[in-house]
Amino acid sequence: MGISIGLVGLGSFGTNFADSFKAHPSVSRIAYCDREPERVKKIAEDPFMKSKFNPKDAYFTLDDICKADLDAIVIMTQPWLHAPQCIQALKSGKHVMSAVPIISIPDSDETIEWCDRLVNTVKETGKQYMLMETSFYHPEMMFLRRKSKEGAFGKFISAECEYSHDYSGAWGCNLLKVAEMRKASKAGMEWSKTVHEKYISKGILGGSMHYPTHSVSGPCSIMNAHAIKVSALGLPATGYNSFGKYTAFVNTTGFFHMSNGATITAREYREITGHGYEINVYGTNGTWRNREWMWTKREYNKPDDFVPEHGRKQMTPEEMRDTLPREVQKGFILAENHFLSANEVENMDFTPKGHYGSHSYLVHEFIDSVEKGRIPEINVWEAARYVAMGAMAHKSALKDGELLDMPDWGDAPVKA
Ligand SMILES: NC(=O)c1ccc[n+]([C@@H]2O[C@H](COP(=O)([O-])OP(=O)(O)OC[C@H]3O[C@@H](n4cnc5c(N)ncnc54)[C@H](O)[C@@H]3O)[C@@H](O)[C@H]2O)c1
Repeated sequence: MGISIGLVGLGSFGTNFADSFKAHPSVSRIAYCDREPERVKKIAEDPFMKSKFNPKDAYFTLDDICKADLDAIVIMTQPWLHAPQCIQALKSGKHVMSAVPIISIPDSDETIEWCDRLVNTVKETGKQYMLMETSFYHPEMMFLRRKSKEGAFGKFISAECEYSHDYSGAWGCNLLKVAEMRKASKAGMEWSKTVHEKYISKGILGGSMHYPTHSVSGPCSIMNAHAIKVSALGLPATGYNSFGKYTAFVNTTGFFHMSNGATITAREYREITGHGYEINVYGTNGTWRNREWMWTKREYNKPDDFVPEHGRKQMTPEEMRDTLPREVQKGFILAENHFLSANEVENMDFTPKGHYGSHSYLVHEFIDSVEKGRIPEINVWEAARYVAMGAMAHKSALKDGELLDMPDWGDAPVKA
């Protein structure tokens, strides 16, 4: 018997995952759910889904899919909806995976409360929760976590991380259009009631740090450390167009004191030319500079250990990625090439897909953790720490950079 799984929220992000979940060899049955019937229909009618999809597994409400006899549910709805929906799914006895972040609402204190409720629900139900943070499985993040486990950084000094996503469409993903698309559904049209009326009309304005996981998850997981204090500053929108109208800060920079004595500078920018991820990690013995994709290793006891070039190695994504089991790779190759036979994919090369290959790793990590009953890498304790970093940075920025203590929920009971 394999894992039975339901996908909730078949918009632009959720649709991308349908093939991979279906193709994972440990998944035996897949269900689909969206409040928009045509979004369910589009996937349900795909011939590739047929072998694991029964038409009775088409759902149109979260309540109904939560009543189904499934092992796990993946929530990929709009970001202001995640936490209560995940809690409902956990309480219905399902393991849960959630699109990022835990929740994105303008109120930092309420965000922290949701983190608290989610951690408690995971503890009470004993079910798994995993956050679908794509940057966690970027090639360099996997490589740097391996280096960290080897002790190759020496003592961590600091890290810089950045997620910049300009509102304009210059590089192909226009945030103004994304916001419109997320409102183009029944759930989206309720944004005014669920977000605008509750917060914005009362003067509670959010900011870029309410979507912080793309920047902070990397360095926290590499250092295996969490934030204990934060000071942040934010910049409001220039008002050049409607972007940032309901936002206190479009660009926020946070400075975090970490539990290992190091620091992290995190940049979450939404009104900036261009788009990109950045990660630099500095250690006494090893340093990573993303711009060069260059691993630099200091070698002690050698006369030239001060020469910057010494020990440098340019890395490729293939060298940096972890290796997925071959049976899983073959499933994912089929997901990309629906009309090939199992024999034809036997010796084909595998290239992971979605956001620098991360989707393949996210799907496998969740299914594997459910199958083996182990805590996933991006578990609720980690996820709460990442999301709280953003919420507290926003609070600090509202107070002109006041140094604030971080809340914490502790480590996962068993390390992933
Ligand atoms: N790199 C990344 O990690 C990344 C990239 C893109 C999007 N995302 C995340 O993915 C999520 C979805 O984004 P999107 O752009 O696909 O949004 P979307 O608006 O296109 O899709 C959301 C879907 O959820 C459905 N939905 C909402 N409430 C529901 C309910 N109660 N029951 C059933 N269906 C429901 C809506 O009808 C809609 O089809 C967001 O949270 C976003 O943050 C993450």
